[in-house]
Order: sequence, then C-alpha cells, then structure tokens
Amino acid sequence: MSDTMKWIPAEVDADVPSVARIYDYLLGGSHNFAPDRAMADKLLAVQPNVADIARRNRAFLRRVVQFMVEAGVRQFLDLGSGIPTAGNVHEIAQQAAPGSRVVYVDYEGVAVAHSKLLLAENENAAVVQADVTRPDDVLGAEETRRLIDFSQPVGLLAITIGHYLPPASDPAGVFGRYRDAVARGSYLALTHLTDDFTSLHGDEIVETMKSTQNNVFPRTREQVLELFGDFDLVEPGLVTTSRWHPDYGVAPAVDPEEDGLYAGVALKP
Ligand SMILES: C[S@@+](CC[C@H](N)C(=O)[O-])C[C@H]1O[C@@H](n2cnc3c(N)ncnc32)[C@H](O)[C@@H]1O
Repeated sequence: MSDTMKWIPAEVDADVPSVARIYDYLLGGSHNFAPDRAMADKLLAVQPNVADIARRNRAFLRRVVQFMVEAGVRQFLDLGSGIPTAGNVHEIAQQAAPGSRVVYVDYEGVAVAHSKLLLAENENAAVVQADVTRPDDVLGAEETRRLIDFSQPVGLLAITIGHYLPPASDPAGVFGRYRDAVARGSYLALTHLTDDFTSLHGDEIVETMKSTQNNVFPRTREQVLELFGDFDLVEPGLVTTSRWHPDYGVAPAVDPEEDGLYAGVALKP
C-alpha cells in the first residue's frame, strides 16, 4: 500500500462502488476509487445531469443549515452525511453560530475516516459510524449523547438518504423514530429521489445502482411527504432542491424537475 493509500480503512471494499464515493467524485472530490469513477460514468450516461443534481442538493443543504441557525437551532444530526466536501454542516453552523454542535452519521468507511480526520480538533462535532435504519445505535451513541441535548431543538438532516432505505427497513417508521426523539421547535430537512419526474430516468438509475453497495428506491411525492409525519412544512413546502429558497450561487434548474429530488423542511410543532 502506498503512503497515499494508508488512510483507507481496512474494512473498506474498494472494488465495489459506494454511493458515498460516487457522490464525492461527482462533486469533484478525490476520495474515491476507479470502480466508483467507472460507476459515476455509467450514471452520467443514463442521467447526464446527475452532477448538477448533486451540486444543487449540496447547495440546498447549505441553505437549510443557514436557515435553521437563523431559526435558533444550535445542534444538528446529519443522517447519511457522506464524505466531507466543501460547505460541511459544522463549517456553516459554527461560522454562523460559534459553539453549534454537529453529529455526522454514516456507515461507509471512507466517509467516517475522513470525517474523523477533519473533526479531530473540533470538540463540538463528531462522527458516528452507524446504520441510520438502526435509530437506537445512532441516538444512543456516545458522541450523540455528548453533543446533542434532546430537550432543545435539533436540526435533523436527511439529505439524500431516504432513497437508500429499502421498503423492508420501514423508512416511515425509521424517520418517525428520529422525529419522536427531538424536542418541539426541531426541524427535519430532507431531499429524496423520485421518478415522478419525466426527466429523471429512475428505472435506469435503480438498475445501474444495483451493482454498487447501495440500492436506490425512488418514491412518490405522497411517500416522501409521509416521512415528515406530523411536522409542519415551512414555506415553500415540498418543492425541488433549487426551488427551495433559491440562491444564485448555484443556478436553479430551468425546469424544476431537472433537480431530480424533492426537497423540503418541516418544523416539529
Ligand atoms: C449521496 S450521499 C449524501 C451525503 C450528504 N447527505 C449530502 O446530501 O450531501 C448518501 C450517503 O448516505 C450514506 N448511507 C446510505 N445508506 C445509509 C444507511 N443505511 N446508514 C448510514 N449511512 C447511509 C452513504 O454511505 C452516503 O455517504
């Protein structure tokens, strides 16, 4: 193993592409392997705007964190946080409100290893290696209990995670566990792949992703709305990523359906 490869955790299967590393590559990152890049190229062949979908998703995440900080939220639980890239949650939150606390959660080895490196000196942020479909593992983790005060509002971030949860894992029930765990005044933000949109080639994406570590399950608008439970959607409701309080740093899609993802934020009443 060369020096530059020493950071790769022993349990990482570099031969089978992972969505964390494919997404990192699509966003211009360097924490990915040849099989991830080959798979990203296959995705680009079936969905040529997939990198734009990823960039607008990431821009949505940044706006949402800013929005939640302005609403008074000072602690965040980021479910399926991925490989750190430009504009991570703790950077935005701690710049806007120093002392904000962030727990990242992912089950992928590269994502966790890089998060640990990045957060080594940050006493107010940590990463938990866990499967988000096991809420007890996430909510009961030492880092979660140290950093999150569940009597105070929490920003729950479920950004491009729902569509990796198979129906058998009961996504609505899983989301319900996290919603139930947080105090009134908490927010849930999510983005979710859908094939409601004609410009999204859902069947081909599902098929292509079958040879990765992460199967994909696009859902209808109604199924996505169910994930918010009895939380109240804030304006402008469930839209697509670039239409949720658009910013002009990342140009909104000409046709909202080109965003490919439903996006929304809801408040626990
Ligand atoms: C496309 S990335 C999204 C990263 C980040 N949330 C964002 O939107 O920029 C999806 C991440 O979810 C993680 N993931 C998928 N299923 C998961 C599960 N059941 N438990 C924990 N992490 C999961 C993947 O490893 C990957 O890092």
